[in-house]
Amino acid sequence: MDGSNPAYRPDRHPSESYDDILNRDTRPVPDHMRQGPAPDLGGEGIAVDRYFSPELFKKEVEHVWMKVWQWACREEEIPDVGDYVIYEVVGKSLIIVRAPDNSIKALYNTCLHRGRKLVTLNGCKNEFRCPYHGIAWNNDGSFKDNPIGWDFPQWKDEDIGLPQAKVDTWGGFVFINFDHNAPPLMDQIGVLAKHFESYDYANRYKAVHVAKVVRCNWKVLAEAFMESHHTVTTHPQILPFLADANSQYDLFDDFVSRQFSAQGVPSPFVYDKNYTASDIINAMGGVATSAQNMGRGGGEGVVPEGVSARAFAAEAARQSLGAEDGWDYSNCSDAEMLDALLYNVWPNMSFWAGFSPNLVYRWRPNGLDPDSGIMDVIIMKRVPKTGPRPKAVPMHELGADDPWTDAPELGAGLIGIFEQDMGNLPYVQEGLKASGNGVVQFGRYTEMRIRKLHQMIDRYIAAGSV
Ligand code: FES
Ligand SMILES: [Fe+2]
Repeated sequence: MDGSNPAYRPDRHPSESYDDILNRDTRPVPDHMRQGPAPDLGGEGIAVDRYFSPELFKKEVEHVWMKVWQWACREEEIPDVGDYVIYEVVGKSLIIVRAPDNSIKALYNTCLHRGRKLVTLNGCKNEFRCPYHGIAWNNDGSFKDNPIGWDFPQWKDEDIGLPQAKVDTWGGFVFINFDHNAPPLMDQIGVLAKHFESYDYANRYKAVHVAKVVRCNWKVLAEAFMESHHTVTTHPQILPFLADANSQYDLFDDFVSRQFSAQGVPSPFVYDKNYTASDIINAMGGVATSAQNMGRGGGEGVVPEGVSARAFAAEAARQSLGAEDGWDYSNCSDAEMLDALLYNVWPNMSFWAGFSPNLVYRWRPNGLDPDSGIMDVIIMKRVPKTGPRPKAVPMHELGADDPWTDAPELGAGLIGIFEQDMGNLPYVQEGLKASGNGVVQFGRYTEMRIRKLHQMIDRYIAAGSV
């Protein structure tokens, strides 16, 4: 190993790096895809009660969930005045609505009389009239009408508009923040927004949306999608075509981090199998790991002599995606057509980079239960070059006992992966509570981002508790 080459660092897996794989690719990648910062965040164990203690969860709600920007829905879900969707987290409920001036409002979904939720289903309304006693607000949150107003002299000269959360948008996503003194959204997602300029998320649409309840803390859920250490044991079927142990992890600032895992090249765990390019391609066709490959196969035919599986798969993706949406992908890099390029924005969001259909994840507590979380999985497709903008699909909700197979729209590859992950997560939650030494450990490099997730929670709780 050459210690002078930054691609070979003593704290990395000794096989080739993601950078090395990019160097062999058929087209250059943008500079920002090369190795970024990977600070040493330490190696101490983390107390297990962070995943289930009601007291700590309460602090997390108050100092994290009530303070951070979080995406609530897509703009294309509320294209017309009065369109609204409900966003719920930690027991709060917001109506995200398109107001008459075309702005987007996030109204607290609580009647100011005796507290009934104003709406329980998404829809389109020009007023939110409480079903209990009939008091109504306009769809910009201003007060409209009180049929029992004679008995409310206390409201006579009051502004009784619905309270609102802060709203901002990026890439077609609507973000909310419960804290009116919160720093701007760009302080939280700035690096992501810069790196994603060419992927044009604003001109993508929500083609698939599945949200599933899982019996584990929201952080257990998030962490299962932030590292590739578990691939060899939990997802062995993808080893022929996924470079897992030599994934690249970068931590840009307090909020934005990423993981890049190359596809179309085998895992270092199976180098000894000497898979041929055709073996790799056949494995990709058999088990699609990403939205990019989903439903597209890629396993047909034999890879021509002298062509790598990665180059072959990337070209197949360019051709098939171009045929599907009419855009020209001929200059797009192999990496941006194929790879698992997962950006995370602290605390609970992940957006896949690249030109192919992008996955977006969101992890939330399920109400105020520290032992239950919700994972949203979205597939964003590019709006076709010609023709109308496709409509966003509604959220497909799966309960704790509903398998991912109940959401065939995800495609067999993703479903297989998620089912394998779900096979672990409830038992992680149970195991944490049963711990004998009271701590968990993180890998120094591959799980650096998970450590950062916890460090940031601590920082927010400390800042909020002074
Ligand atoms: S609770 Fe809403 S009008 Fe009474
Ligand atoms: Fe997994």
